[in-house]
Amino acid sequence: MASQGQVIFWSMTTVIIILAAVTALIIGFGVSGKRSISVTVLTSPGNIGQRGVLGCTFEPDIQIGSIAIRWAKAGVAGLVHEFKGGKDHLQEQDASFQGRTAVFADQVMGGNASLELRDVQVSDAGTYQCSVTTARGSGAAVLRYRTGAFSTPKVHVENSSSGDTLQCEAPRWFPRPAVHWTVYSDAGEYLPHFANTSYELNAENITLKVVSFLHNITANATYTCVIENNIAKATGNIKVTDFSITRRSSLQLVNQNTESVSSSLPASHWMLLLPLYLLSI
Ligand SMILES: *[C@@H]1O[C@H](CO)[C@@H](O)[C@H](O)[C@H]1NC(C)=O
Ligand SMILES: *[C@@H]1O[C@H](CO)[C@@H](O)[C@H](O)[C@H]1NC(C)=O
Ligand SMILES: *[C@@H]1O[C@H](CO)[C@@H](O)[C@H](O)[C@H]1NC(C)=O
Ligand SMILES: *[C@@H]1O[C@H](CO)[C@@H](O)[C@H](O)[C@H]1NC(C)=O
Ligand SMILES: *[C@@H]1O[C@H](CO)[C@@H](O)[C@H](O)[C@H]1NC(C)=O
Ligand SMILES: *[C@@H]1O[C@H](CO)[C@@H](O)[C@H](O)[C@H]1NC(C)=O
Repeated sequence: MASQGQVIFWSMTTVIIILAAVTALIIGFGVSGKRSISVTVLTSPGNIGQRGVLGCTFEPDIQIGSIAIRWAKAGVAGLVHEFKGGKDHLQEQDASFQGRTAVFADQVMGGNASLELRDVQVSDAGTYQCSVTTARGSGAAVLRYRTGAFSTPKVHVENSSSGDTLQCEAPRWFPRPAVHWTVYSDAGEYLPHFANTSYELNAENITLKVVSFLHNITANATYTCVIENNIAKATGNIKVTDFSITRRSSLQLVNQNTESVSSSLPASHWMLLLPLYLLSI
């Protein structure tokens, strides 16, 4: 009876050792038989009609010939872009991305798998996967790309019969943004004000030109025009004194990202404000 107990003990130990070894193999080399490498993504919203970058990095590998980068988009049959053996492979590229994509070939060896996307369209918004294979292994990460239009406003003083007026104008926004003004006296006092805003559809029928007027301005105050939608926030600032007018403006992108470091880890979401300070005049 004692020897039977010993046999059960030893078989259980063997099973545990085998399970541990298999688990270590899966963790170490991935199910594909290769080790998994870390792949990280980061992006900021795309501005319609302009150039965008979908950021992706991986553990560098000096053997460029063994690096394969594959960008795919959820709901799109073909690939977005494929790069392997040191050059582009676009045979399987989806027609909607034709002539608009590139990777930074000279930076691939350093671990840069970012995708350049030219002439960004509203319909480019969606979920993208960046997959990378190197001699060390493979990995993938997913990001959510958002698109819209945003631009920095210009604020200037307009003469009108009913007192001086400020005009805040920004050429391209989408979706339709909200506009508000803040007015502070030099003493830091919040001043009441009256503004009216109009939106005009641009020739491509998507983006809007935004014009907002603030009536009856006075000297010795700072006026700020704030334009904001779900992807960006821009401000135009003007300080009026009896002798001078000082202007400043800025644009911030509201960046919502989905990042996963190698495909095995859970995705995490966060809000990130990426300030792009654009000084004007
Ligand atoms: C990759 O390289 C391009 C071109 O130099 C650069 O604009 C981009 O920021 C790089 N991406 C990352 C994630 O480093
Ligand atoms: C506003 O109008 C006055 C007189 O009509 C003129 O002297 C002044 O230069 C004008 N200012 C601007 C900013 O156009
Ligand atoms: C807004 O203000 C401008 C300038 O005073 C005026 O020409 C325009 O008619 C106003 N628009 C509205 C909708 O009140
Ligand atoms: C924009 O819309 C108008 C009216 O709906 C149409 O006549 C025009 O061709 C459109 N322009 C473009 C560039 O799609
Ligand atoms: C601006 O001030 C003038 C004179 O004080 C007044 O008649 C006019 O109604 C004011 N306009 C606005 C839009 O508040
Ligand atoms: C603005 O401030 C200057 C200097 O502090 C002062 O001389 C001037 O009277 C003020 N103007 C107004 C309209 O309050």
